[in-house]
Amino acid sequence: MQLWLDTASVEEIRAASRFGVISGVTTNPSLWAKAASGQGYRDMVLEIASIIDGPISAECVAQDVEGLVQEARQIAAWHPNVVVKIPIDENGLEAIYRLSKEGIKINTTLVFSANQALLAAQAGATYVSPFVGRLDDAGHDGMAVVREIVEIFERYHLPTRVLAASLRHPRHVPEAARAGAHIATMPYAVFTAMFKHPLTDVGMRRFLEDAERARAQRLAKAGT
Ligand code: E4P
Repeated sequence: MQLWLDTASVEEIRAASRFGVISGVTTNPSLWAKAASGQGYRDMVLEIASIIDGPISAECVAQDVEGLVQEARQIAAWHPNVVVKIPIDENGLEAIYRLSKEGIKINTTLVFSANQALLAAQAGATYVSPFVGRLDDAGHDGMAVVREIVEIFERYHLPTRVLAASLRHPRHVPEAARAGAHIATMPYAVFTAMFKHPLTDVGMRRFLEDAERARAQRLAKAGT
């Protein structure tokens, strides 16, 4: 399973990129606003693409089919790694179908059911993004939706990738992996929480103390 970063913060992407384990980035208008960088959306996406050599999702905001198609074509032309995010509703589905036929890679966003995922896959989307955290917030089992989508896509050999999105805590990552998601996209805080464990800190402290003790013993013996 690939690990992607779900952020529009260039600083976070730069910081995470040094480990070589992040293979893509997802952004959305809310993350762009949160980054408050003053950068235009295109400039921000181009800067991200200069840091991560992998798919970078950039979202459309048009509401009608023609608007979505025009906007998606423009966004797709920004950079070869750009994937266009389109929300799944009636207009979105038609736009996904038309754009996929043109070879534009689509990440279907705001997916909350297996039916929406199945429709997007049949329309030619490259990715579907079930929103795990938002489903959990609404009292559903977000990961169960991911499992259902993976099962359907596998059974019918659909090539669309399942991108577990709206992940909120580090346990969501192995849960997404066990559910069979091809990609997990996560906030920077969730990513950094993945390599932290209190027992690792305790163990490191103890090894340092013991190394100090062993050195002191050796010096004491040499002095006798
Ligand atoms: C990513 O593609 C989604 O836009 C993002 O994961 C949504 O996360 P949120 O539900 O925490 O806003």
